[in-house]
Amino acid sequence: MATSYALCLFCNLTFFTCLASIMIGSSVITADSDLVERMCGRSCSRATSSDKFCKDALNSDWRTPGADATILAYVAFGLAHLNASSTQDQITSLLSNSTGPVRQHLEQCLLDYATALNNTEEALTDLDWEEFGRLTSFAATAWEQAKNCESAFNGTKSPLTDNNNNLFGLSEICVCISQQLIV
Ligand SMILES: *[C@@H]1O[C@H](CO)[C@@H](O)[C@H](O)[C@H]1NC(C)=O
Ligand SMILES: *[C@@H]1O[C@H](CO)[C@@H](O)[C@H](O)[C@H]1NC(C)=O
Ligand SMILES: *[C@@H]1O[C@H](CO)[C@@H](O)[C@H](O)[C@H]1NC(C)=O
Ligand SMILES: *[C@@H]1O[C@H](CO)[C@@H](O)[C@H](O)[C@H]1NC(C)=O
Repeated sequence: MATSYALCLFCNLTFFTCLASIMIGSSVITADSDLVERMCGRSCSRATSSDKFCKDALNSDWRTPGADATILAYVAFGLAHLNASSTQDQITSLLSNSTGPVRQHLEQCLLDYATALNNTEEALTDLDWEEFGRLTSFAATAWEQAKNCESAFNGTKSPLTDNNNNLFGLSEICVCISQQLIV
């Protein structure tokens, strides 16, 4: 999957480069930096995270400057995937030293994050095939897993609150961009 993703990214970048050299370069760049602004300023139905979170997250990737909506979707789902993956590792290491109810809550979170990872992976695969129809649903499912893990602790202090907030924010960005791709 990593290979096909890299390949497709290469195709997309090549395509974009051709397009950019055919059109007048600077006007393309201007239009596209507006895209991040527009995307992060949009209040998509679930949005709870800030503009700043959105811009910081998207701009942390080298592909973002001049990116079209498809590349931005790769960036957003890629960030959500990376985040979920590192949280999964963190949960595994927390589990090695937990007992009782905390252990049960962590086990629930491990399942939640496995589902979030599965859905962000499926989204990245669909992007490789330029299939945009299921992306919003994959993003929404990832969002729900963060919510599920947060409520697994049932009001007691969770060691994963920051992680869950990151996944909330990142999957909200994924929802926004996915909606943009199907309009
Ligand atoms: C997870 O996302 C947050 C917010 O974008 C970021 O600060 C953090 O570095 C990310 N962590 C990983 C491992 O990607
Ligand atoms: C396991 O948890 C106990 C109690 O919270 C702590 O004192 C200990 O350092 C932890 N061990 C590891 C390996 O994290
Ligand atoms: C995600 O889960 C579905 C249903 O269990 C499964 O069919 C699919 O292969 C999984 N995808 C990945 C990338 O693991
Ligand atoms: C959640 O906590 C409440 C009390 O704070 C308790 O009555 C309830 O059984 C707990 N639910 C779960 C699923 O642990």
